[in-house]
Amino acid sequence: MLIILTADAVITYFVALSYANRVHDESLADDAQILATMLQTRSLNGQISPQARFLLQFDPDGHNYFAIRSPQQGLIAGSRILPPVAPVPEPGQPPRLYDTHIKHTALRAATLAIVDPGHKNRVLDITLAQTFRGRRQVARQILLLNISLQVALISALLLLVWLGVRFGLRVIDPLTRRLSRREHDLSPIEDDDVPVELLPLTHTIDALFARLRDIMALHERFIADAAHQLRTPLAGLRLQVERAMRYADDPRALKALEHIQQLTGRTARTSGQLLALTRAEARPMQMAPVDLRKLLPELAGQRVPEAIESQIDFGFETTDKAAWVNGDAVALQEALDNLIDNALRYTPPQGTVTLTLTPDVDALCVQIDDSGPGVDAEVLPRLGERFFRAPNNQRSGTGLGLAIVRHIVMKHRGTVRFERSSLGGLSVRLCLPRLASAGASAATNERHGRRS
Ligand SMILES: Nc1ncnc2c1ncn2[C@@H]1O[C@H](COP(=O)(O)OP(=O)(O)O)[C@@H](O)[C@H]1O
Ligand SMILES: [Mg+2]
Repeated sequence: MLIILTADAVITYFVALSYANRVHDESLADDAQILATMLQTRSLNGQISPQARFLLQFDPDGHNYFAIRSPQQGLIAGSRILPPVAPVPEPGQPPRLYDTHIKHTALRAATLAIVDPGHKNRVLDITLAQTFRGRRQVARQILLLNISLQVALISALLLLVWLGVRFGLRVIDPLTRRLSRREHDLSPIEDDDVPVELLPLTHTIDALFARLRDIMALHERFIADAAHQLRTPLAGLRLQVERAMRYADDPRALKALEHIQQLTGRTARTSGQLLALTRAEARPMQMAPVDLRKLLPELAGQRVPEAIESQIDFGFETTDKAAWVNGDAVALQEALDNLIDNALRYTPPQGTVTLTLTPDVDALCVQIDDSGPGVDAEVLPRLGERFFRAPNNQRSGTGLGLAIVRHIVMKHRGTVRFERSSLGGLSVRLCLPRLASAGASAATNERHGRRS
């Protein structure tokens, strides 16, 4: 803008100067004509009064010069310092305009010739000259006026651009918010609220997402295949160990075989959990309305014998409000089962495990509290990492259960939080977006369907 303003100022100055020159030239020629007409008036008899002389020479912005010469007598009136010029136009011709100077002052002059009214054979050369100051002043005034207008205009323009960029870019806010909410979601970006100008960008991002999805699918398939491949030999191993134990007479050999049996069981569990994790990651969720008020007691009921065996006070607190979520029943069952399993497994006998279903503002939360050892505060953020097990863990496990939970919750756009429980152990709070009712969910699905 500054460069444009500067260029504009230079151009404006020269254009204004050219106009000022043209106007001043016309006025100079007119003045020369008037002087000629005055001299030709018989009553004046070729004489110029002091008043007329003053008027001719006075210029508020500079100085004017005039000279009346005749070829025979030389200077008759006016300034001697104004140099004569040749050729002077013939009498009756319009004035000739030219540049001249006195000492170092540049002048613009107009000259013409008339026939002396007193002496019919005498020709008078009339020259009128003025400095350039007035012209430059006019150009400067025009320039100043123009510049102030341009500055005002450019300021308004900059303000508009600033407002345009600031508010114009707000249209991408919803898109930014939607993308920032994603954690592992690589599904294509919906085009509904994306400005047309940004579509090439979102399509490029979508293509990138697609490539990433392919890579991840390949990766997950590899793990699933590996886990699957391990299953058959592990089953064979277990069978063979059992057989060997039957025939082992040496107690040391039996002890070693028992140990192998334990390890085989653990490895089989790990490969099973690995398979469950890749399934949670890769399998698309089959969303349908799920009633947590029904699902939770069912799940808890299956674990009651285990709780009784470990002498654990296993309680369930429910709500009397509707508790519908949109989810994959099988996946949700798996996630909640992992959490209940942990609570029952890590809580020592005579402990307490409580399952609570509480409605939140627009979510439904299942909280699992236990009176077990819990985990140290600095370890809490690491829960849910693959293969992570808290140090000093007394029980066997794979460290994959919470990773599975995390994945399933993420696919349901829910949250899972770990903290210290009021019962002394760990408290896991799993929240899922709620549905007003099963009927409302169907309506929501239909709306989504139409929009996409
Ligand atoms: N209820 C709990 N009480 C104490 N520690 C727990 C509890 N739940 C999970 N943890 C800790 O988190 C780790 C990860 O749990 P998880 O992913 O289910 O793996 P696993 O149970 O197979 O070890 C566990 O090893 C344990 O250290
Ligand atoms: Mg576990």
